[in-house]
Parts: sequence; C-alpha cells; structure tokens
Amino acid sequence: MSTMSGKPSTGTPPAWDMAAIRADFPIFEQVHPRTGRPVVYLDSGASAQKPRQVIDAVSQCYAEYYANAYRGVYYFGDRVDAALERSRESVRALIGAADASEVVFTSGTTMSVNLVARSWGAKFLRPGDEILLNVLEHHANLVPWQIIAGETGARLIYVPLTDDGRLDPERVAQSLTPRTRIMAVTAMSNVLGTIPPLAEIIPLCRQNGTLVFVDGAQLVPHAPIDVQALDADFLAFSGHKLFGPSGVGVLYGKRSLLEAMDPFLGGGHMIDEVFTDRSTWAEIPAKFEAGTLPIAPIVGLGAAVDYVRGLGWENIHRHERELLAATHRALSQIPGLTILGPEQSHKGAIVSFTIDGLHPHDLADWLDRRGVAVRAGHHCTMPLHDHLGIHASTRGSFAFYNTLAEVDALAEALRYALKKHHLG
Ligand code: ALA
Repeated sequence: MSTMSGKPSTGTPPAWDMAAIRADFPIFEQVHPRTGRPVVYLDSGASAQKPRQVIDAVSQCYAEYYANAYRGVYYFGDRVDAALERSRESVRALIGAADASEVVFTSGTTMSVNLVARSWGAKFLRPGDEILLNVLEHHANLVPWQIIAGETGARLIYVPLTDDGRLDPERVAQSLTPRTRIMAVTAMSNVLGTIPPLAEIIPLCRQNGTLVFVDGAQLVPHAPIDVQALDADFLAFSGHKLFGPSGVGVLYGKRSLLEAMDPFLGGGHMIDEVFTDRSTWAEIPAKFEAGTLPIAPIVGLGAAVDYVRGLGWENIHRHERELLAATHRALSQIPGLTILGPEQSHKGAIVSFTIDGLHPHDLADWLDRRGVAVRAGHHCTMPLHDHLGIHASTRGSFAFYNTLAEVDALAEALRYALKKHHLG
C-alpha cells in the first residue's frame, strides 16, 4: 500500500489503511496466551512495537553486510558506513536539522540528556547559574541536571505548573532571570500527555539568552518537530519509542554548541590524534560517538523514520486525535475514574488516570487478564506524582497502530476490573 512505501510524505497525505498498518506489525498476529484474545498494547509510551520494515532492515544488516562502522576499508565496511549515513540523513530530515553532522547517535534519550548535562554543563555552568525545569519532566530530564547542578554550584529552578498540568509561557517568563542558562523541557509529558507550547516558550528563552534542551522522547513518535523552525538548541529522543530498535537514540545540537562542548566519552573514533599524554578531537558528530556504535539499531532507526514519514504526519495526527477523544469519552463513563492532566486540546495520545480505591498495580494486573497492556506506577516522574498528591497512576499510551476497537477493549477491561475488585 502507498503508505508503506517508506517514502517521506510529500504534499497530499497517503491513504490510511488500518488493516495494512496492523499487518506490518508481526507482534499483533498473536493472541494473548492467557486470554486467547488479541493483545491490546497500550504501552507505546514505554516502548513502541516494530514494523516488519524495521525488523527486516536490522536482520538484513546482520545477514548481508555487517561489519564495524567507520573503520573497515572493505566492502562490508563501506556498506555499513553508507547505511549509517543514510539513517543520519533520515533523522536530519525528520527533525529539520540544517546538517546531518548535528545529529549525534547515542544509546537513547537518557544518554543524550547526560551528554549535554556533562559536556555542556560541566564546561559552561558557574555557581549561581540557574537551570530551569518543571515537574512534568521524566527523571531522565531531571536527575542529570541535579547531578551537574551539584557539581557546578548551579541552582535548579522549577516553573510552577498550572492546576491542570500545563506549562504556561507566562510562568516561564516569570521564572527566567539573568542567571538562567538553560531550560530543560519536555515536548510531551509521558504521564499527562501535556504538550507545552514550545513555539511560545523558546522565544522567551532566546530573548533571555537561555538555551533550550528539548526532551522529544514522547512527542517525536507522534508529531513532526522542526528544530530550525522552533529554534531548539538541543533535542533528544529514543529509537525504541519511534518504532525502531532499542539501544539507539539521537542528540541533535546546534553546530556551534556541539563544537564548543567537550567530549562526553573518550575512546575510539572520537579522536583526531592521540599522543601518550593528550589527544585532539574529531569533528562533530564523531566527537560524541566514542566506541562502537549500535550499528544494526541505527540501520533500524533509519527504517523506522522512513516508515513513519511514509504514513504521513497528518494521517497519524488525525487518527491519534480520534483515539484520544474516544478514550476520554469511554473513560469518563467509568465510575470513580479521574483522568489526570489537561483537556484534550493541550495533550497528545496519552491518558493517565486513577480509580478510587483501586491501586494502579492491581488495576494493571486485572487489565492484563483481559489482554490489555498498560503501565502502572510513577512512570519515572516522582516529582509530578508528588505534585498531583498521588503515589501512582495507570497509563494508557497510544500509537498510530492502535484502533478504536482497542479503546472499547480498554473500557470493557476497566469494567471487568471494577467488578472483580468489588467482588473482593
Ligand atoms: N519513559 C518511558 C515511559 O514513560 C519508559 O514509560
């Protein structure tokens, strides 16, 4: 079908064929071994399923041309290098970067945040400088900043959220000071689904001389991000949430920033010259790609990017809005259920909730008995849960491959859980 062509969307969106999309994901062919029902996978925010196109690209790399990257001056080595540069170019096009050398491959979002916190933070932060955060952030976009603040004497300042869990640009403006050196901000909350208005927030930071680090782990699988149009200084995301392999992620950074930063890890490939007592660094991105890269996962990431772009962002957006609206409608009928976070116009296709008297872990277990996979717990956002006055929540996170029938299955499973719970 046209949407599976692997070609980036140009102009008119390709046709949306749900059956063909589902057929691209081998994992959906099976039934849940305990229930005999189809598996209803509502945990794509934790990690997304992989289309055959990605699985094939990875296995083709291993079966046909595997070698180490950027090292072998022979046929396989050349093919691997070309495949990795193709993936880098696909990522560049996906995020609208000016140049592929601004795309650094890492092991994932967490590594990307740590890289910037250390390579930029350790070099440029001074005692009394401020790092602007907020409690929507995943631990991966909090803890590295806490560590570097502790080491440099920088201060962590939190923008207060609105009562409904949004990040209001006015409050960002009020939190900026002449000492605010960087704002680390999610593009989409992994719990509330909140999509902060970065197009309004980033110019405020820019006027203040504040850099912006965007955690795109949750948004990138759902919507196009154009780093140049947004004027983001850094963007991080993971391959595994973008329907690609685990073990690979991306750090985008503006050339001038990446060039000014010191290396994060030392080792092979990141050097220009090595002497017994000192070394000089390779050009970006190699300066930040020490050691053997996750070769086949990078190839798979390129295939994943091509696959998603082939579906068409408009199609993905339309379908996920339908899923979100249907989920809000269905969940609002469940007694004792509270949906966390803002109204639909401020969020993406993630729905976290609590049910009076039913612990999220027990609830997730009941749902699994109906074949419905959700995440329960603090979702690596303890400060957000403290802010909400709860210890844990249950989360359904959707992707383009989910169906309206799966929303019905979630609602049915919730009613089943409530019935079982009340029967004790
Ligand atoms: N960050 C991932 C999640 O939200 C693991 O579930």
